[in-house]
Amino acid sequence: MPVRRHGGVKWPAELKRAVQAGGYACGANTEQDLGPMVQMRKKDGNMSLLDGKKYHIITFGCQMNEHDSETISGMLQENGCGEVPSAKESDITIINTCSIRENADKRFFGTLGQLKKIKEKNPAYIACVCGCMMQQQHIIDTVKSKYPWVDIIFGTHNIHRFPALLEKVYREKQKVLEVFPDSAEIVEGLPAKRLYQHKSFVNIMYGCNNFCTYCIVPYTRGREKSRSPEDILAEVRRLASDGVKEVTLLGQNVNSYRGLTESGKTCDFADLIYRLDEVEGLLRIRFMTSHPKDLSDRLIQAYADCDKLCNYIHLPVQSGSSAVLKRMNRKYTRGQYLELVEKLRAAVPDITISTDIIVGFPGETEADFEETLSLAEAVQYDSAFTFLYSVRTGTPAAEYADQIPEAVKHERFNRLVDLINACSARKNAAYVGRTEKVLAEGVSKKNDRMLTGRTEGFKLVDFAGEKSCIGQIVDVEITQGRTFSLAGRVKEPIPGKKKE
Ligand code: 5AD
Ligand code: SF4
Repeated sequence: MPVRRHGGVKWPAELKRAVQAGGYACGANTEQDLGPMVQMRKKDGNMSLLDGKKYHIITFGCQMNEHDSETISGMLQENGCGEVPSAKESDITIINTCSIRENADKRFFGTLGQLKKIKEKNPAYIACVCGCMMQQQHIIDTVKSKYPWVDIIFGTHNIHRFPALLEKVYREKQKVLEVFPDSAEIVEGLPAKRLYQHKSFVNIMYGCNNFCTYCIVPYTRGREKSRSPEDILAEVRRLASDGVKEVTLLGQNVNSYRGLTESGKTCDFADLIYRLDEVEGLLRIRFMTSHPKDLSDRLIQAYADCDKLCNYIHLPVQSGSSAVLKRMNRKYTRGQYLELVEKLRAAVPDITISTDIIVGFPGETEADFEETLSLAEAVQYDSAFTFLYSVRTGTPAAEYADQIPEAVKHERFNRLVDLINACSARKNAAYVGRTEKVLAEGVSKKNDRMLTGRTEGFKLVDFAGEKSCIGQIVDVEITQGRTFSLAGRVKEPIPGKKKE
């Protein structure tokens, strides 16, 4: 796997195929332009064209997108820009888009429409759009024709190029479009401005090879690429020495992580967990998302062996019907999924489990849906994200003839949500009276006299405690179990200790 360090080396020929079209210049004119990937603020005192500019980022979608926005923020700050809380106050607004479902598309276009007024008042204002939606040609075409106030369009494979693209717009006073279809490389060493002080996301791999028939991700994020274990370890060590207590390893399917060590050996996901478990100062490791077909016995063993690996797994099932799973191209059956859950519970008795479920996939019969209900009842999930199937142009399922009427989808969806919520409430109620280890993340948004944090099993807890607990793992006695969260109080106050 070729890796480019930031400030890096040569750009491979196939990546020079930037999508270029009317009214927009290509991001790079020559190969030289593509050379120094991230034009960071010059240490010799020469100011970047971006120095002093105010930016605002609006992020839609998953943790992967949130983390990409952290990177964009980090690069802008290295170039002397400062973040502001609204688009109105900014010189530069970036909308980082998601295309997983149709409502994400709609929210994006609504938000983009609002930027027009800012541009009208301030012609020097720069509007930028990036992320998964920009990897689709029909979306690029719509942005160009209906939203001409957009100055920069870039994709998921060239985030590192953003400061250079911005400089180009400022210097040459023209709009820029740069979207690469895929990337064979991983750019290492980009800065990131962390959203949270004590926990952090760490990408371990990019892209997806699974092609579930409903999903747009393989088309927007490209093929799987794993970072080297050494690069991941170095990043996690750096974060831990900077006070981060918890890392969440990110990838579309972390179970198929295959990193190459410096000595040329393959390191799989379980190996990586064992190595990260040794990192000094780090207290918790989480990961998402896991594909059931690739969850290995060694990973299950890692839960037992690695103290830092939290006893929690997000294991998307998508449907409880083997027939639907087959048409979804998920490559496991209902029975295999249930066996996996049994194995996990046998090895890690207190493990909490959450999932993703799609309702109303083309061809889903009432009997198929009832199998989803009965699977959810059998597994007893701690929580679940439930989705109405949404047609994604370009995916195989979009072409399936037997689409489910909206009314039927909604009726099934409501029945599933009722079952899932009742189960979450029941499970949370059983925590009352227990003492849970909670990483205190900050002051509660709902009540500034309360703190908020997560249990090892990823349950959100609002609790009474001293602010000095923030950043520490504290014992919290659970006093209330709600449907979506717990409430409690710190068992023993930590004597006058500041955050570590
Ligand atoms: N429609 C509805 N839900 C979808 N997901 C992915 N694609 C679609 C779609 N076309 C859901 C899956 C996935 C989660 C991130 O989003 O459940 O696990
Ligand atoms: Fe989409 Fe399936 Fe890949 Fe997940 S594993 S990102 S659902 S194609």
